[in-house]
Amino acid sequence: MQELLIATHNPGKLREFAAMFDGLGLALRTLDDLGISEDVEETGATFEENARLKAEGYLALSGMPTLADDSGLEVAALHGAPGVYSARYGGVKGVAQLQYLLDQMQDVPWHQRLARFVCVIALARPGQPTQIVQGTLSGVIELAPRGSGGFGYDPLFYVLDYDQTLAELPIETKNQISHRAEAARAARAILEQGW
Ligand code: IMP
Repeated sequence: MQELLIATHNPGKLREFAAMFDGLGLALRTLDDLGISEDVEETGATFEENARLKAEGYLALSGMPTLADDSGLEVAALHGAPGVYSARYGGVKGVAQLQYLLDQMQDVPWHQRLARFVCVIALARPGQPTQIVQGTLSGVIELAPRGSGGFGYDPLFYVLDYDQTLAELPIETKNQISHRAEAARAARAILEQGW
């Protein structure tokens, strides 16, 4: 069975990809499965650069075909911030990070609060050009957090089609419409073509 390294230490992420790649006959491995504790630094200025750096870096460390992803939130009124700095935006985490984002946008009216989540997936294998795919989800940054599901910026991310924040939607719905799901479907199409 062909092995594919999913470049993450996060078991939740592995489960998501395992569900998305079901039936492809791939044996998915994580960094922990392979005993890789070294971190490939995310020094890129874009999601694509970071996903590529990680996929090619962990391919070099493992010798195994590797999938890596990078994702985050882009807010139009903040010129694309927090972008690749989404995880460490404002130097704070959790509820404080949501408040930090709201503070940055306190003068921005509703009709200018457009945002999107982006996920880029890179697939790297020996002797082949790295393949890059992307998924996005558009929404609006709420005036106050709502909902308790999901993680990260979900309570502030209002999805027009569902009239709810991502944190209010059932996780099954989020997992169908999310930026990660769209990128994973595109990655699946590449893997299905016998990549
Ligand atoms: P990662 O690249 O998957 O580690 O995501 C980087 C950061 O982007 C996370 O720490 C979150 O702040 C944000 N982010 C990415 N995807 C989501 C999502 O689906 N919901 C909320 N926040 C997200």
